[in-house]
Amino acid sequence: MNFELSEEQQMVRNSVGEFARNEIAPVAREYDEAEKFPQRQLEGLAELGLLGMIIPEEYGGAGFDAVSYAVALEEIAKADSSVAVIVSVTNSVCCYPILCFGTEEQKLKYLVPLAKGEKLGAFCLSEPQAGSDAVGLKTRAIEDGDFYILNGTKSWVTNGSEAEVFIVMAITGERDGKKEITSFIIEGGTAGFTVASHEHKMGQRASQTNEMSLVDVRVPKENILGGIGNGMKVAFGSLDNGRIGIAALSVGIAQAALEEAVKYSKDRIAFGKPISEFQAVQHKLADMATNTEAARLLTLRAAAMKDANHKQTGTAASMAKLYASENANRVCADAIQIHGGNGYSRHYNVEKYYRDARITTIYEGTSEIQRIVISRGILKD
Ligand code: CAA
Repeated sequence: MNFELSEEQQMVRNSVGEFARNEIAPVAREYDEAEKFPQRQLEGLAELGLLGMIIPEEYGGAGFDAVSYAVALEEIAKADSSVAVIVSVTNSVCCYPILCFGTEEQKLKYLVPLAKGEKLGAFCLSEPQAGSDAVGLKTRAIEDGDFYILNGTKSWVTNGSEAEVFIVMAITGERDGKKEITSFIIEGGTAGFTVASHEHKMGQRASQTNEMSLVDVRVPKENILGGIGNGMKVAFGSLDNGRIGIAALSVGIAQAALEEAVKYSKDRIAFGKPISEFQAVQHKLADMATNTEAARLLTLRAAAMKDANHKQTGTAASMAKLYASENANRVCADAIQIHGGNGYSRHYNVEKYYRDARITTIYEGTSEIQRIVISRGILKD
């Protein structure tokens, strides 16, 4: 067992970290306040190949392994998790399913521009009445010659207003008394496929989150992804991978909050000495650091299992996502506690990290859903 990153993975950490510190972190607060989409930052990340990190070079990607992917997302999230979630979604739940399930034509037409960062991707699974119960979706696709006609509403679509390629799950019929669910690739701008609303969120406000409306949207049959009736295999198979990304993003938020808390505790004087000299603060910092390291190890382990094609990768990804997201929330709360009243002020970064962390136990499967996936995995074994 080797706990060291390879030279290449270390280079990814250094180069992405440097870009994130210089180009993303300094404007993160401004973009958060204005709910401004970080277009310029994404263009820089695209130049580094980070919008198609896990895609092979032959399809325009950077050809990273999953460990490098996790390392890069942690570095981006340390600077701004809004940017990290945009990058995670386009990579994990748009590029990746096209790589795994797409035809050669779909890969050339959609994956190549996504991986090069010329286009951004999104994933449309959730609906107003179907979040955790993803199979409860109602969006329908009716066959019409060489097309399917889609009608429905998709909610919580990260990148909705910005993306040009969407993976959309819809009911195409019934099989053995169960819904037959199919995935489609839909191009942004297709008639009837529109942004219905923009969510004004508590955190990760620079990332755009939208409700999308589908009214008589005509999608050619050649855009079926993974075959008729395999929609949930595409969706859940992608989420197995996506959850490694959200775990890494959560580690990044926790690490950023920890570093701010360490710095503040050395600067802040109370009762005649820096508060870092009080055991109550030291114990908090020790727990924050230990648990964040544990979250990082779980995340990198899940990523290494993915690289090794391990059959329990989904379970490991859910463990990492569960632990890292819960930890990010605890660490950010403790970082605010160490900052005292200042931590509650928008003048300090920990206030933003706390808001940003809150969604991590919810999106790409709540903590409660992760526990279902994990328990199924260990019981099956
Ligand atoms: N890989 C491949 N296929 C899988 C799978 C996996 N990991 N897990 C399940 N499936 C398949 C099953 O085999 C089944 O197929 P058949 O019908 O052909 O047998 C189908 O998917 C349905 O599976 P289940 O019967 O197990 O479904 P369930 O109703 O019991 O639900 C669940 C299981 C784990 C609760 C699931 O609904 C789930 O993960 N819910 C959470 C959804 C989620 O994570 N949403 C996130 C939204 S995306 C997002 O947040 C992105 C963003 O923009 C940030």
